[in-house]
This record gives sequence, structure tokens and C-alpha cells, in this order.
Amino acid sequence: MESNLKVLLVSDDEVIHNQILNAMSGSYSVQLIESRDVVREMNREDRDIVIFVQPDTDIAVESIEYIKSVSPTTLVMFIAKSSDFSQLRSITKAGASEFFVYPEEHSLFISRIPAIFQSYEANKSKQTETLSSFTRGRGQIFSIFSGNGGSGKSNLASAFAQTIKVESTAEVILIDLNLQFGGLETLMAIESNRSIADLMPVVSELNESHIRNVSQKLESSKLEVLISPCDAETAEKITEDFVAKLLRTCRRSFDFVIVDLPSYMNNHVVTALEESDRIFYVLTPDTPSLKVLKQFEELSVRLGIELPSRTSIILNKTSKDNEVQVKDIKNVLRFPLAATVRLDNKGLQPFLNKGEPIRKTAKERRLIPFAKDVKKWGLSVLE
Ligand SMILES: Nc1ncnc2c1ncn2[C@@H]1O[C@H](COP(=O)(O)OP(=O)(O)OP(=O)(O)O)[C@@H](O)[C@H]1O
Ligand SMILES: [Mg+2]
Repeated sequence: MESNLKVLLVSDDEVIHNQILNAMSGSYSVQLIESRDVVREMNREDRDIVIFVQPDTDIAVESIEYIKSVSPTTLVMFIAKSSDFSQLRSITKAGASEFFVYPEEHSLFISRIPAIFQSYEANKSKQTETLSSFTRGRGQIFSIFSGNGGSGKSNLASAFAQTIKVESTAEVILIDLNLQFGGLETLMAIESNRSIADLMPVVSELNESHIRNVSQKLESSKLEVLISPCDAETAEKITEDFVAKLLRTCRRSFDFVIVDLPSYMNNHVVTALEESDRIFYVLTPDTPSLKVLKQFEELSVRLGIELPSRTSIILNKTSKDNEVQVKDIKNVLRFPLAATVRLDNKGLQPFLNKGEPIRKTAKERRLIPFAKDVKKWGLSVLE
């Protein structure tokens, strides 16, 4: 019988992790990652058990401390490559509860697993009850991407964020990662000299109040928006580590983090995609766009970005005159279709001209077709 526990195996050592995976397969589903991805993965999802194989660099103590700080109930088991008393002490102090030395203690480790996992499960419900009062929630990061420029990413990201904000009580932030040219500031008529770049000096201690200091609150919907520096030179100074830190900090303070991305891949975009819980790929119903989607899939495989489990398609600008019909597109897509949004030039025009938000309050009458379609999409993620 397979257990429901979520087990993460952190290892850069092929021999050891193959030994462990072979012994555990069938009884437990185990996700394998490299040690450098620990922080990202712990931010993405809660894990019950982390089996941490000693890496070659000395990041073990720091990583385990991090795991225990974001998820105090996670049980950490450490696999050492030599028996070293001072290491045992520092690893235990960091929060690991079990310690095994490989290869000598492999059989001991495997034989102890059922008992350790069972007692973990028995304690789990008790622990979560007492801890839930002071552990903070973990928001979700949704990225809006497309390899095609002008497909509607920014309009969709902003209407989607406004929709989630007005249709729920969630805390929502919209981030413009078009670092060179921006876009959201024009779309939403935001006049401000504060942008993402103002967070760079405080990156090492970045917290919620820094972010709320720099973000703009839309008057009507109370949506927070972090605008782009709109400057190529500044954009160059922003590192991928900064982007990761920014998204992780936002995730701790907001229920939903909506990220508007440009239509090319660079380190910033790859980082944002990797940090995301869901990637919404904006596709317009024509053959060239389908071709670009295919190229994006191939590139993601090469870059090691996991798409299938988190990507879905937003089909935008659909109309009766489409070159390719919606049902034909559905047949060729390898990702689920999350929403279809009609071409709505007439509806959008007045909002774009005035830089007016598409959604302001929950009970608006007479939504334009674009806003109606985005509402359906927004409600589907709130369910
Ligand atoms: N469903 C729609 N109906 C009509 N017009 C739309 C629709 N979606 C987007 N547009 C229009 O398409 C144009 C491009 O939209 P937008 O700027 O949101 O695209 P983008 O993908 O963010 O572009 P970029 O790649 O330059 O960032 C805009 O003029 C926008 O008003
Ligand atoms: Mg855009």
C-alpha cells in the first residue's frame, strides 16, 4: 500500500539516491531534487518528510534550518557520508531528527523507515493543530507567459488579478516583470516613481512592509501592484536571486501573487516560471502561435523547467473568424485549457484609452465580454 506522505529526497549523489529510491519504491512516492533546489521546492509545497543526503558543499546545516523555518512540522532525516560527531551535532541542532551513515547503515535506514513514518503520521494531526495558530499561510504564485508578443499577457494578468481581488477577500499582488519596458503602469494609469528596483538595496532583509511601501494600491479594488523600473540599465542590475527572493517574500505575505512576464526567456523569466505554482500560457488561435508554444515546450525541457504538472492554456482573442477553431486547438494541446477569452476590441477600448481598471468592485453590472471571460477564469482558481 502506498502511503500518502509527501517525501522529498534531496541528493546530488546518484549512487546513494538510487539505493534509497529502489528500496522505497512501491511503498512511498518520493520526489528527488538536487540540494541547490531545496529552498525553491520548500517554498512551492509543504513536505512531510525530507531525506537529506549530505552534499559536497557545506550547505546542509543552512538548508535544514531553512526547511524547519518554513515548515516546522517537516521531519528531516540526514544521510551522512562519514560518521563525524561534530557534524551530527550541528545537523541535529539545525533540526534533523534522524541521522544515518552511508553506505554502512543503508539496511538499518530502510528497516527503520516504516516505524519512523508511522509515528510521524500519528503525530501529524496533533502538531498541525497546535502550530496552525502561528505558522503563516503560503500564497500561490501564478505566472502569465507567452512566447508571442502582444498576445494579451499584460491585459489578462491585470484583469485576472483585479478579478481575484474583488471576487474574494484574498490579499493579491500583481508584479510587472517586464523589467525593461514595463507595461502595467500604462495599462492601469499608475503614476509613481517607485518600482521593483527600489527593493534592491534591501534585498537581504526583504519583508512585507518593504514591499507594501513600494507597491501601489489601486483605489477601487485595493489590488497591490509592483511596477517595473522600465529601464534597461536597471533591469540589467536585477539578478535572478533578487527575483526569487521577491517572489518568495510576496508569497509569505499575499494569498495570490500574479506575475506578468515578457515574451522572451531570460534568467529572470526562468526563475519566475520555476517559482510558480501555476503557469498560464497565453495562446492566440492561429498557427504561428501554436508553433511558438511548441518551441517553448522544447526549450523548457532543455532548461529543466517542469511544465506538465503546472501549465495550462489561456486561449485569448477568440472569435468566429479564427484561423484555427477552438475545438481543433483543444485536440492538439498538450496542456489543459484553463480559460477562453473572446476578442473584445469594442469593450476594451474605452478602458485602455483612460487607463481604467477593468474590475473595480464585486457586484458590477454590465461587464464587458473580456471581463466576463476573465471572471470565469478567476473564479475557477478561487474554488
Ligand atoms: N481579448 C482581447 N480582445 C481584444 N483585444 C485584446 C484582447 N487581449 C488583448 N488585447 C489587445 O492586444 C494588445 C496586446 O495586449 P497586451 O499588451 O496585454 O499583450 P502582451 O502579451 O502583454 O504584450 P507584450 O508581449 O508586448 O508584453 C493590446 O492592445 C490589448 O488591448
Ligand atoms: Mg505585456
